[in-house]
Amino acid sequence: MMHFEKIILFFFCLCQVTLMYPNELLQNSYLRKGISLNGRWHYIVDVYENGYYNYRWEPHDGSENPGSGAFFLNSKPKDKMDLVEYDFDAAPTINVPGDWNSQKEKLFYYEGTVWYKKSFNIPNYDPSKRYYLHFGAVNYRADVYVNGKKLGTHKGGFTPFNFEMTGLLTAEDNFVVVKVDNKRSKEEVPTLNTDWWNYGGITRDVTIYELSPTFIENYRLQLNKNNPEIISGFIQLNGAQKANTDVSISIPELNLEEKYTTDKNGYTKISIASKNLRYWSTKNPKLYKVKLSGGSDQVEDRIGFRRIETNGSSILLNGQKVFLKGISLHEENVMRGGRAYSMEDAKILLGWARELGCNFVRLAHYPHNENMSRLADEMGILLWEEIPVYWTIEWGNQNTYANAENQLKELIERDKNRASVIIWSVSNETPLSEERTTFLTRLVHKARAMDDSRLISAALEDHGKEDDPNIMVVADPFAEELDILSFNQYYGWYGGDINNIKNIRWEIDIDKPIIISEFGAGALQGYHADNLTRWSEEFQELLYQETLPTLARIPQLSGITPWILVDFRSPRRMLIPIQNGWNRKGLISETGNKKKAFFTLKNFYSEMDLIE
Ligand code: GCU
Repeated sequence: MMHFEKIILFFFCLCQVTLMYPNELLQNSYLRKGISLNGRWHYIVDVYENGYYNYRWEPHDGSENPGSGAFFLNSKPKDKMDLVEYDFDAAPTINVPGDWNSQKEKLFYYEGTVWYKKSFNIPNYDPSKRYYLHFGAVNYRADVYVNGKKLGTHKGGFTPFNFEMTGLLTAEDNFVVVKVDNKRSKEEVPTLNTDWWNYGGITRDVTIYELSPTFIENYRLQLNKNNPEIISGFIQLNGAQKANTDVSISIPELNLEEKYTTDKNGYTKISIASKNLRYWSTKNPKLYKVKLSGGSDQVEDRIGFRRIETNGSSILLNGQKVFLKGISLHEENVMRGGRAYSMEDAKILLGWARELGCNFVRLAHYPHNENMSRLADEMGILLWEEIPVYWTIEWGNQNTYANAENQLKELIERDKNRASVIIWSVSNETPLSEERTTFLTRLVHKARAMDDSRLISAALEDHGKEDDPNIMVVADPFAEELDILSFNQYYGWYGGDINNIKNIRWEIDIDKPIIISEFGAGALQGYHADNLTRWSEEFQELLYQETLPTLARIPQLSGITPWILVDFRSPRRMLIPIQNGWNRKGLISETGNKKKAFFTLKNFYSEMDLIE
């Protein structure tokens, strides 16, 4: 083989290798002008993954000459004799973004593979530009192909990812094929068992970004945690001209403009002094327009600057003590059905939280779509964001850890510039073991290494003392790794007598803020009975009436996020006629009707405002 041919082969192989994993996340794709691929996509349900494997169970993917059955080729018969046993263009269509469970009745319970196909043109296609394909999220595994070439694979159902597809496109008649597989399995994150619906599909926006040869790939801008008069962070360029390149950042409203030169890796630190910054807060969610330019690229963002820290058992926002009047919520638009994904969905959910009197929301149990953190920035609502390290994860499996860490990384990369996000949570209700504590501690260290400006927590569990069940404790060695001690407690619903709630107390000897990350009771909206009848609105109301003042006696209490804002679908909740596949702990029903306990919590928060 000639020397020249060896070089070509090397770069071809390198290209293949680099194509298999997503590229670094394009920061702030949200405000970039892109080509949306949202809309109707053709889909093929492939229970036996016949479009991926041949009859000997050998993958077409990656083979030198994939068989005619390889769905990612989007093949058409060459002539009337030719055999092609699938046809995307004759297949039905489905909305993207959106889960398949709530769109197609036959797919309501479906867990498996669905193939999606979308044809597209690139207006004013410019081969000198670079092209990225960005997904807000796909649940759970996505294998992505463009014009029959594999871009790569992504696992994790709730975080964004993008692939570069430069050189693979033409001005017209392109097609993207995505194999989506939402099967659960023990070693995944989450694992087999969750208390939420396993909505599968391309559940968030899909967008093509046309980028200049050298562009702004990433940046971070937040108030310096040690000096509130300095904005610090970095800019990272990507491209052939990334090294020793001038970049600039301006905040017009502050008459600030600073120039930097990137290092050999296209990176530069940022440090901007400003004495007249108006800090972002819940009462004054001030956002500044920030303009960044580098290479031949310009991006704009809207960023709030604030400090969040703890002092003993207090949480301080810009140095002022704050009590987190919160609520938990899942990512569902229950009236439309299925996964929430739009700004309209976000306005419904955060609108209800605001109506409740909340200044804080726990986005359980996985990263929600970016509209939530963007809207929370605008509304002045603080956020707890979480990765789905939930219940019985395979703690000893290194692939499982790598997956969890990657989802944490993708979440932090996406939302690190969002003032509303104050807490990264690495887990929920995980059983104690050495392997589990090692696994979670590694995640905490990763989160701190990526972002030392926010607080780290996790939803732990409490239990009653042997010798006195009225005394509750949180005996968890992992607590010492956390900035905030949070735990879920269900006294009066899962165990314990609702009439005894007033007599319980917690013995927690820790000088850290405490958040009660869950408590609650199920109630079927509209079912009324005496307040000791389980599933009645009155029972749920009584539990809130008894629990709230009892929690208030915890000296370190700095926040609560009761479980949960809205009833949500769960395959674990099959009590007919009460649950019918819904977890009924919501304060609002799936028809948008408020239960009596909604007003109990609302009053509790409004009385707290009077004290503040
Ligand atoms: C747990 C868990 C939730 C679940 C809730 C319940 O605390 O964290 O995901 O939905 O209890 O049982 O309703």
